[in-house]
Amino acid sequence: MCGIIGITGDAPTLDVLLEGLARLEYRGYDSAGLALLPATAGGALWRARAATGTHSLDDLAKRVDGAPEGATTGIGHTRWATHGRPSEENAHPHVDCTGTVALVHNGIIENHYELSDALVAAGHELSSETDTEVLAHLLEEALAEAPEAGLVGAVRTMLGRVRGYFALAAVRTAEPGLIVAARRVSPLVMGVTATTALLASDIPALLGTTSEFLLLEDDQIAELRPGSVRVTDLDGVEVEPKARTVDYDLDAARKDGYDDYMSKEIHEQPAAVASTLLDRQLPDGTLALDEVRISDDELRSIDKVFIVACGSSYHAGLMAKYAIEHWARLPVEIDIASEFRYRDPVLDSHTLVIGVSQSGETVDTLQALREARRWNAKVLVISNVVDSSMTREADAVLYTRAGPEIGVAATKTHLAQITALEILALYLAQVRGTLYPAEARALLVRMGELPAKVALALERGPAVDDVARAYRDSPSFIFLGRHVGYPVALEGALKLKELSYLRAEGFPAGELKHGPIALVEPGTVVIGVATRTRLWEKMLANVAEVKSRGATVVLVANDGDDETARQADAVLWVPPTEQLFAPIVDVVPLQLFAYSMARLHGLDVDRPRNLAKVVTVE
Ligand code: G6P
Repeated sequence: MCGIIGITGDAPTLDVLLEGLARLEYRGYDSAGLALLPATAGGALWRARAATGTHSLDDLAKRVDGAPEGATTGIGHTRWATHGRPSEENAHPHVDCTGTVALVHNGIIENHYELSDALVAAGHELSSETDTEVLAHLLEEALAEAPEAGLVGAVRTMLGRVRGYFALAAVRTAEPGLIVAARRVSPLVMGVTATTALLASDIPALLGTTSEFLLLEDDQIAELRPGSVRVTDLDGVEVEPKARTVDYDLDAARKDGYDDYMSKEIHEQPAAVASTLLDRQLPDGTLALDEVRISDDELRSIDKVFIVACGSSYHAGLMAKYAIEHWARLPVEIDIASEFRYRDPVLDSHTLVIGVSQSGETVDTLQALREARRWNAKVLVISNVVDSSMTREADAVLYTRAGPEIGVAATKTHLAQITALEILALYLAQVRGTLYPAEARALLVRMGELPAKVALALERGPAVDDVARAYRDSPSFIFLGRHVGYPVALEGALKLKELSYLRAEGFPAGELKHGPIALVEPGTVVIGVATRTRLWEKMLANVAEVKSRGATVVLVANDGDDETARQADAVLWVPPTEQLFAPIVDVVPLQLFAYSMARLHGLDVDRPRNLAKVVTVE
């Protein structure tokens, strides 16, 4: 879990490295570090690191005074700590005993204990608690044994000894101008111009330097030199990397006048939903997915659906379960991705496994999908990132066209995911004949009203701020919902805990009396999703249960619904909509509430503590 970057060219690289690291910070910010190569062989490697949490990158930028003037080759890293606490010693780049080899790494080296024991026994001195440092020493050993093979040969030898996941980049003072990179599971992209070669964990980190990208696949090794990239496999056979031209709008990745990315992204939600819906209806009346390599016949033969995802993406999947079962009449199981493949799920070629992932890189989801493919299940991915690992391996893809999301807590991509999943549910229903095309089209038209309804829910921001202010001192919150309101309650609780570090738990309201109601005492704040969906009356009965035990009740209610409002101490108003689409609108005030609460507590909404945007560790 981390971001890596590397640049080799004919111009000073320092500023480009720092700028790229700033764009990779969403992948972790426990520490940041850089290593620059001397211009000529034999010079000294320069390294700087800072481990001051959210200030790491700023502090690193202040430590570049001693950097070699005009260094044109360098690597950088921004860390989300796994092995070893966040500290300067554990910050990347890591170096070998000679201080001539430096390396940055994103991933996990699973056999690092065994490797470090062997290295220490052979006389190496390890100076960090990380799994990564062993890689630098393995390179040192390989170079000592076969110096003629150079850094690329040493990386190949090293990869033969490691188990685990990695995207890595290494440099060596004896080979100025060269960066060697390799990848297994963790993401890595490269760019090349006439005079430069670059690599990073994602494309936005390199925008502005090039629009032509090369994709490194699993178990490939790349040699980057100014103006050229050579890719080989683990046996040293040269391979042609896949190329992509990316027309990205860099401005979209900036804050556009908002105080933070999260508030910008919350307000981009109408557009995110609208563009995910765009052009889904084909002239023949059918619905369009983005990349479909599953035939309609195969879809008709599906008898079971699994949805696998993590975090907010999991909640989007939970919301979609109701839609797929209702419209397409297919049984749907939903799994937390990190649990899925360890429970021996029963899968075959008639199973459809849907991976939901904003990044397309979350390793638990990626591995769950690989497990599904192993059993010949059909794999469909909903992702926001074109050419992410998951989308490249899937049989079909439906993109959420939400634009880059920088805030760690998912907002606009979450709404876009629900939208995409509902389109998929309609598609499945149409192919399977459980909805007439006219019905599916009519529902799609209703979906077209959603961006305006989300915009209306957003206009209530100041009223939500008032509610947050009223309950700012409450140490804990209980979120309740039923039917599609249940995943909305889970997402509301997740947003609140990840942003404001307050205890917040979501429950299906009907389950309350089987345990959670014991938490309710006078003054407990209960937030209920009480819009007019199928179980609205039952939901109000559950609200009465907590009220009669002294709870303070805040309800998400449909505009003008005085009957619901009478049950509440405070109301978060939203426009009414078709019940299976309701989560797209109903979750909005809960996002705003969490945002507002975090701001009231003076917290960094874009970079909540201990979290990272893309989780590439199990
Ligand atoms: C992290 C993020 C969450 C996100 C989850 C799944 O925990 O902080 O916002 O929901 O990963 O990420 P994915 O990219 O797979 O949707």
